Amino acid sequence: MYPDLAARFGTPTYVYDLDVVAESRDQLFGLLPEGFHLYYALKANPHPEIARELRAGGCRAEISSTGELANALAAGFAPDEILYTGPGKTDVELDLAMAAGVRLFSVESYTDLQHVGAIAEKHGTTASILLRVNTTAGSAATGIRMMGRPSQFGIDAETLPDLMPLLTAVPGARVAGAHFFTMSNAQDEDALLGEYEFVLQSAAQLRRELGLPLELLDIGGGFSSPYAVPGPRTDYPKLRLGLEMLLDLYLPEWRSGEVQLACESGRYLSGSSGSLLAGVVNVKESRGSRFVVLDAGINAVGGLSGIGRLLPAAVGIEYDGEATGPGSLVGPLCTPGDSLAKATPLPELAAGDVLTVPNVGAYGVTASLISFLGRPTPTEVVVRGGEIVSVSRLDYQRVYEVAP
Ligand SMILES: Cc1ncc(COP(=O)(O)O)c(C=O)c1O
Repeated sequence: MYPDLAARFGTPTYVYDLDVVAESRDQLFGLLPEGFHLYYALKANPHPEIARELRAGGCRAEISSTGELANALAAGFAPDEILYTGPGKTDVELDLAMAAGVRLFSVESYTDLQHVGAIAEKHGTTASILLRVNTTAGSAATGIRMMGRPSQFGIDAETLPDLMPLLTAVPGARVAGAHFFTMSNAQDEDALLGEYEFVLQSAAQLRRELGLPLELLDIGGGFSSPYAVPGPRTDYPKLRLGLEMLLDLYLPEWRSGEVQLACESGRYLSGSSGSLLAGVVNVKESRGSRFVVLDAGINAVGGLSGIGRLLPAAVGIEYDGEATGPGSLVGPLCTPGDSLAKATPLPELAAGDVLTVPNVGAYGVTASLISFLGRPTPTEVVVRGGEIVSVSRLDYQRVYEVAP
């Protein structure tokens, strides 16, 4: 797809197309009812050019670290467009976020809330808090489930009746709403709508029974996009109308803006914008099997899969012509875990060829084992309208002296 870029910058190289980022963003806004805020989860891809493109079309930023904070600010997000989330916010991180002017935090426990409140007080301010709720159950059985079981994420819903008086009395913090992020990567539209129904029902009940404020209700995300295989982003033709009906049923005040609504997405917004150009280093036969050794393995893509976490690695490359037989795509690392696809149909390949792995704009470089075995990190090229916007590389290989 971008052979000239491989020739110019070498491999492995990621190419991110900002036109596709804009298209994904507009598509997702179009799937949501009017007035929804859409937070871009920078964990999917913190590249400031991608984040900037999303902001230009109305997205806000969801961050969970100092690095993501820096990238969100570099991308032009104002502090009041940022939501800080995550189960392990340290005092140092909170300090930096507050100093930068961030005021909206999702908290995962009473003690997390106390930390946020204490740092806000130190800065002479009050933090706005979304209570992340770990719902008692969930409706969807597919996708990556994050709630409805014991978890580091969210406050167990059944403990809220006792906790609520404590949560609303923490100095330096004001509970302003709720945050639900129950699942990721839901391909089934009915399952997603079922999940949202459960979330909206739970939020309305918490407000009614416990007086939970709902100035801002973040109902989560779950929007699916293919990962490292060809294919389009999932369409959700019933979502907008379905959500409107659910909102009218459970939180009719949404229409007046009394309850502000938000969703979050990482993979849907950036996933299909990125391709990885990987070079073939060697092709070898072993006991009747073909191994295509690439210069990009789990150090460059799918690292979370490589260590047995999340989606199984099954990279599907794009190529012209016919497959000539099965082969395994493996990376350059000295571990059998560095496998991108086993016995998959492949064309004739030789050292020096360049393969394109599509749909890796999310959970690519930064979700990989970039330091493992000390190989160079991939080059990242950002394009718009066929023109190069930026060329960069992360550098995590050097050892820095730390003062004793
Ligand atoms: C709180 C939160 N928000 C957003 C996301 C982004 O998920 P996705 O990339 O599937 O949209 C995640 C992913 O784990 C998450 O934990």
